[in-house]
Amino acid sequence: MGEKIPTRQDALELLHRYNETESLRKHAYAVEGVMRYIARKRGEDEEKWGIVGLVHDLDYEKFPDQHCSKTGEILREQGWSEEYIRGAVSHGWGICSDVMPQTPLEKTLYAIDELTGLVATTALIRPSKSVLDVQVKSVKNKWKDKRFAAGVDRSIIEKGAQMLGVELDELIDNTIKGMQEVAEAIGLKGNSG
Ligand SMILES: [Fe+2]
Ligand SMILES: [Fe+2]
Repeated sequence: MGEKIPTRQDALELLHRYNETESLRKHAYAVEGVMRYIARKRGEDEEKWGIVGLVHDLDYEKFPDQHCSKTGEILREQGWSEEYIRGAVSHGWGICSDVMPQTPLEKTLYAIDELTGLVATTALIRPSKSVLDVQVKSVKNKWKDKRFAAGVDRSIIEKGAQMLGVELDELIDNTIKGMQEVAEAIGLKGNSG
């Protein structure tokens, strides 16, 4: 079993090697930002949470049919510690993996992965096109509109919030704030500044 405790640089190198698509990279940075924000807030290992966020969809561009399992393979080849691998693979629980989220890190990733997409789409319909202008209520307003960000499975987010034992509003708030911290990197700083 791998023992390697990866650095953010290790994670970035893998991300850039396996994901050439700009939108996938931005998704990785968004998830990293939110994972870091929530880890910091909870007094958890921010670096670890961020790294798992960066690589969670590592295989999605080149091996879409083996999503999750291929990421596990790649990270094992790199000798990464199993904790990081479990963290990444469990985000697809019930969809592309049977690893159920158990730790706070895993549950958080599971809960916020899809939510970052909903927040991003909500930002893009603001006149400013900026995540800095997104509020919890704007995201909530689009919750039941199934044609809006149609790819985002709201039930997974709800299940994730339940697993974490946090209110949906708090999860949305934290996700917005985490994405605001990386607004520039994810292309959602808008046209105001
Ligand atoms: Fe995924
Ligand atoms: Fe993802």
